[in-house]
Amino acid sequence: MRILIVGNMGYVGPAVSAQLKKACPQSVLHGFDNAYFAHCLTGVACLPERVLDAQFFGDVRAFSDGLLAGYDAVVQLAAISNDPMGDRFQDVTLDINQNATVALAQAASAAGVKHFVFASSCSIYGVAEGGPRRETDPLNPVTTYAQSKIGAEKALEQIDGAMTITCLRFATACGMSDRLRLDLVLNDFVASAMVTGKLSVLSDGTPWRPLIDTHDMARAVEWAVSRSPDNGGRYLVVNVGSDERNYQVHQIAEAVAKALPGTEISINTNSAVDSRSYQVDFGLYKSLAPNHQPQVTLEDSISHLKSGLAGMGFEDSEFRNSSLIRLKVLESHMASGRLNRSLVWRCEEGGYNL
Ligand SMILES: NC(=O)c1ccc[n+]([C@@H]2O[C@H](COP(=O)([O-])OP(=O)(O)OC[C@H]3O[C@@H](n4cnc5c(N)ncnc54)[C@H](O)[C@@H]3O)[C@@H](O)[C@H]2O)c1
Repeated sequence: MRILIVGNMGYVGPAVSAQLKKACPQSVLHGFDNAYFAHCLTGVACLPERVLDAQFFGDVRAFSDGLLAGYDAVVQLAAISNDPMGDRFQDVTLDINQNATVALAQAASAAGVKHFVFASSCSIYGVAEGGPRRETDPLNPVTTYAQSKIGAEKALEQIDGAMTITCLRFATACGMSDRLRLDLVLNDFVASAMVTGKLSVLSDGTPWRPLIDTHDMARAVEWAVSRSPDNGGRYLVVNVGSDERNYQVHQIAEAVAKALPGTEISINTNSAVDSRSYQVDFGLYKSLAPNHQPQVTLEDSISHLKSGLAGMGFEDSEFRNSSLIRLKVLESHMASGRLNRSLVWRCEEGGYNL
């Protein structure tokens, strides 16, 4: 099997590459990425891309269709990948996460690719009262990021042909990675507890936030790259996570404090209630992918983060201004003139319409 992983050099990509290599050692694995965060390695002795057979660099907005010939599967991870970045770069977010994703899938279908896997997000449920959300329940996006994921899902559904399309609506990611990010709720709590002995909940603690470890995201991708259309249909949208890992934010904080005794939790009762809160029903994923169910517990994710951060010699109490925060990395590229305001590398300007 020949697999192209687009957006492989971020937080989730290294786990996806490693999982595909482990599960399908005979496969040919290629990566394609714009390398915004390529330098943000965390505690590794060798490049995670070393497991790939080739790494291509480029912008998915200017993808050359000819590159798709001969692949059996395309995994689309490339995105402006969280709410703060989506708010800061709204047009770019829609362009990359939605328009480029759809163009990539159309080109893949035309090139005879058999499987297209899209990294969507449960954040499209936004604010959801009344119990766990199923795939068919109404969506309530509250951010540009969420809107871009919905727009992509809807357009992917319109693509004709034989290509199997799987939209994986991931729970909020967490856990250690070769390119760790600390702009995620669990990761932020663990980092903060380790360096300051405190963690601060920026809401009243009641919002619901399902979690999934990056390693379990990777196992879901492995399932999706060879999913039969008989198992879920040619086009499938599925929530990916587990019912047991629907947490309220205060529960996540308490689990971190338990693993790091002495941690002081401050609940910010003055802050506006977090606008996102959703429980998610993962029953469909359980029935379709019984052998690829999440395995990493919350305690495991915390423990991996603790040992990973310790191994990095992590002691930066100002980490929210560091390269462990994706938005800060993009802003630093822009401030130094490396990226323009459309997040195009200056050295590539003019390659396509800005
Ligand atoms: N982290 C989460 O909580 C989470 C949850 C649900 C879904 N997802 C989705 O999973 C995917 C991977 O997430 P992540 O956390 O690894 O994100 P990330 O931001 O760490 O990595 C995204 C990668 O995409 C690349 N990229 C961005 N724009 C590109 C472009 N124009 N051309 C080529 N490459 C480009 C970046 O260089 C980066 O390597 C994303 O689509 C994200 O929306 C993530």
